[in-house]
Amino acid sequence: MKKLIPLLLFTFLFVSCKPDVKSVKKEVGLKTETSQKDKKYEEGRSLFLINCASCHSTQMNKIMTAPALGGVTKRREKKWLYDYTRNSMEMFKNGDSIAVELRNQGWALMTSFPDLTDEKLDIIYYFVEKKFEIGDEIRVMD
Ligand code: HEC
Repeated sequence: MKKLIPLLLFTFLFVSCKPDVKSVKKEVGLKTETSQKDKKYEEGRSLFLINCASCHSTQMNKIMTAPALGGVTKRREKKWLYDYTRNSMEMFKNGDSIAVELRNQGWALMTSFPDLTDEKLDIIYYFVEKKFEIGDEIRVMD
């Protein structure tokens, strides 16, 4: 019995630290909904979670330590997005007007991703766009 107490305590802590169940369910629901149909979306989602989600909201609609990316594919040119993702600081230094504007908004620095190829960025921004569109539908169903 004595051995059980720490175990129970651990289980309790684990359960109480679990992220918001509702949002987890939402993610899982979405996954089953899209996974058979859309492999590119799933790949983009993984790449986004690994590289971007620590600063950018995966829902694409909330500001975290970085701006929400929903709609960014409509706001910016593709080449700009790819260059910026690979090295935003360089664009700032070269005086790119949007990079300067973002910098002046006082955000912390964005990591550079020089190794992300066009192909990978294509997949990531596909997910960003799709997720933003689907996200709206899901919020309506809530
Ligand atoms: C360490 C935190 C961090 C990570 C990781 C990160 N970003 Fe950012 N990102 C930022 C911040 C902060 C900004 C705001 C501008 C700035 O300060 O550079 C930003 C800005 C952006 C912008 C410009 C938004 C706009 O309105 O034009 C894009 C696009 C972007 N990030 C894409 C990405 C992508 C794609 C990834 C993953 C491959 C990523 N970021 C990873 C912090 C991050």
